[in-house]
Amino acid sequence: MKSKLLSLLCIAAGLLATGASTSAAAAEPRVVTITVNEQMKFDVTAITAAPGEEIKVVLKNSGTMPKLAMGHNWVLLKKGTDANAFTTAAVSAGAATEYIPADQKAAILANTKLIGGGESAEVVFKAPADKGDYTFVCSFPSHFALGMKGTLTVK
Ligand code: CO
Repeated sequence: MKSKLLSLLCIAAGLLATGASTSAAAAEPRVVTITVNEQMKFDVTAITAAPGEEIKVVLKNSGTMPKLAMGHNWVLLKKGTDANAFTTAAVSAGAATEYIPADQKAAILANTKLIGGGESAEVVFKAPADKGDYTFVCSFPSHFALGMKGTLTVK
């Protein structure tokens, strides 16, 4: 009888422990690590997310050049944004803004800062509730035109 009670207690404790660890994991955003370098490409060009899912993008620059010469950022644009027009505006905005044009901020869902070689940056955001494709770009001059882009698909 006593051992039966003990085993029930053990099961209850086990369930509590499992429950605690599950909820702790759910509170952490999913981490997506994207590595960049002088090749001017994101090594991850497709990210899939559930509507409203919390995601942390960690951008790592494994290159060696300073950010003024070869900087990279990760900018997630709202659905329907003209990425070509956005990155053109970013060039006009200049290095002082880290190529984030003040008059285009409404088009941005999330972005990291601009980083040079050996640096990293991260941003936590919630995937949009609206399903569909969202373009992400590096807004450093000419990088988008050279293919530094990808797609976040919410489904
Ligand atoms: Co870049």
